[in-house]
Amino acid sequence: MLICQLTDLHVLAEGSLAYGRVAANRMVARAIDRVLRLDQRPDVVVVTGDLTHAGALEEYRSVLGQLQHLPMPVLVVPGNHDRRETLVHGLGPLLLPGQEGARLHLVADGFPVRIVLLDTLVPGSAHGELDAASLAWLDARLAEQPGRPTLVGMHHPPFLCGIAHLDRIALRDSRAFAAVIARHPQVERVVCGHHHRPITTRFAGTVASVAPSVVHQAELALAPDAPARFVLEPPAFQLHRWTPETGLVTHTVQVDDFPGPYPFLAGPDPRA
Ligand SMILES: [Fe+2]
Repeated sequence: MLICQLTDLHVLAEGSLAYGRVAANRMVARAIDRVLRLDQRPDVVVVTGDLTHAGALEEYRSVLGQLQHLPMPVLVVPGNHDRRETLVHGLGPLLLPGQEGARLHLVADGFPVRIVLLDTLVPGSAHGELDAASLAWLDARLAEQPGRPTLVGMHHPPFLCGIAHLDRIALRDSRAFAAVIARHPQVERVVCGHHHRPITTRFAGTVASVAPSVVHQAELALAPDAPARFVLEPPAFQLHRWTPETGLVTHTVQVDDFPGPYPFLAGPDPRA
């Protein structure tokens, strides 16, 4: 099974630039084109939040038009740049039955890997939270099928990464979330967005990761007083490949085209 994770699309009104500089709509179109050109078609695309830059209905209509180019199921949860009610209104065709109400959590059961997505959005805030009801919901869903490999996805990372301005807006009270995950060893991975660069860590008996954004990236700046800045490093997304033999293995895919591929055995053997 191949799970494609796209994150932090930040789609805007047509003709606008994010932060006056990032042509997000064009970059998202290129990322979707790259997905369609993969040599193996993903079974599902998971979008871990920040579908839009400002949560406006016009932006949701634009991102829906783009995501509808993908022929496989597309699962979405909001990030801090989204607005929950407007997302429901604008992305209705993508939402699963039952993905409604105070939190837009979802479970997708139709794949070899069970997918559970969590809505960590706190309206008006950059940080994320999972309230007691959400954690109880997660615990109950994971208890339903303890024998099935499961991928948990959400926007806000539940761990600190060392980039201070990002750590201030991560998931709050992640210890309660970690306690739930630790009770369910079938969780193969917790995949996140929000930080706009690839990050991986051990977490609650599993692996937690952040995928790079398909638009701008956060600057790698580990000094405690580093300012919040972004860079136009190559945009990318991740493919999480699962087989019964290998478990979940993650590949990072650059959106841009580069020279090659070239055969490794193009010339004489250098050892000869
Ligand atoms: Fe973002």
